[in-house]
Parts: sequence; C-alpha cells; structure tokens
Amino acid sequence: MFKAVLFDLDGVITDTAEYHYRAWKKLGEELGVSIDREFNERLKGVSREDSLQLILEHGGRGADFSAEEFAALAKKKNDNYVQMIEEVSPADVYPGILALLQTLKARDIKIALASASKNGPSLLEKMALTDYFDAIADPAKVAQGKPAPDIFELAAKEVGVAITEAIGVEDAQAGIAAIKASRALPVGVGQSEDLGEDIALVATTAELTFDYLVEVWQAANA
Ligand code: G6P
Ligand code: MG
Repeated sequence: MFKAVLFDLDGVITDTAEYHYRAWKKLGEELGVSIDREFNERLKGVSREDSLQLILEHGGRGADFSAEEFAALAKKKNDNYVQMIEEVSPADVYPGILALLQTLKARDIKIALASASKNGPSLLEKMALTDYFDAIADPAKVAQGKPAPDIFELAAKEVGVAITEAIGVEDAQAGIAAIKASRALPVGVGQSEDLGEDIALVATTAELTFDYLVEVWQAANA
C-alpha cells in the first residue's frame, strides 16, 4: 500500500490555477503578449520566474527586460494574484478533497504539499487545511522546479516515506513529468489530451476518492 500522498495545490485542491491564468493573462496584455488557455497548459505547475520567462519568450520579448524589470514584472503578477485569492475560504476546497484528506489521516497515510507556489502555505490556511498536512515542501529550497522531480522528492523526504511508496496528484503537464521523474505514482486531475494517455486520470476531484487511489496503486503494483 502507498504510504504518502503528495498533493499539488493549484488546480488540485482548489481552483487557483484559474487565478494564476487570469493574472498572467492580464500581465501579458500589458506587455502585448497574448496568452490563451492552450499556452497556459505549459505554464501550469511552473514557478513564477520560469512562467514569466516562458511568457516573454512566447511573445518574442525574451531579452527585453533587465533583471530588475523582470523582478518587478513577476512582483506585479503576484500582487494581482494575491489580491485575487484574498477571499479564498474553506468553501473553495474542491469537491472530494476534504473527505480524501480525512480518510488518509484516519489511515495514517502521510499527506504532503508539493506545490511550486510560494503562496501555498497561506492558501492552506485560508481553506483551513493546514492541519491535515504532515509537511509542506518549500519550493524555495529546491534546486529545480517542475518538471524536475525535486519538490516531490523533498515532500516525500519530509514525511519520511520512500518516494516509490508515494502517490503524486497533479493537474499540470510539468507536474506529471515531475512525478514521473521522481518515481512516485502519478494520478492526474484533468484530460488525457493535456496530461497523457499513460497515467491514471480523474476528470474532477469528486472522483479522487481513497478507494480510487487504492485501485490505481493495486493496478500499478499487480
Ligand atoms: C504553481 C502554479 C503555477 C505558479 C507556481 C508559482 O505551480 O501551478 O501557475 O506559477 O505555482 O506560484 P507562486 O504563487 O509562487 O507565484
Ligand atoms: Mg497545479
């Protein structure tokens, strides 16, 4: 049986992936770079700085800004995003997530956050979920962001579980790649067009039950 579940946050625990998208889109408009939902799939799960770099390159503006200007643009996006999430509350937790966290806790399965977001801890607080988490891996402490495996490896380490005994849950292409590279078992939230045909997928978190995770684990270890 798996001993830990390593959760992404944005787009898995709540709908903040949408706010990241809107905040990047707004910044893009100010810079004359258009960001649509298809391009946004490449931004999901990617750190603030790497996202900004991808956006600038996408708009052919990759070399237009000094380090100070780049930092100011990243801050501008984050300030806007922080405003958008101000009102996040326990009512915004995605369907099924609270029940899953409760079941995992009751069965003594470790729970860790493996999000690239520096806003992760404050979001968990706003949703009153902090106490369910045995560890929150700090994205500032890893050398490489998703799609590198580092944040999932750190999350498993912080709960004292071998990565091969963990399930990782993700809604992003970069995140699924990170889970695969870490050798945890990936479970995707989303569509196969975006996340691939080769992993277990749920369309929404309402399907992300403890029994489903057990099924996926048993199928992978049969
Ligand atoms: C998550 C989101 C990304 C976001 C990243 C950094 O991975 O999926 O869209 O860019 O976190 O978030 P932050 O809140 O630190 O800017
Ligand atoms: Mg995500």
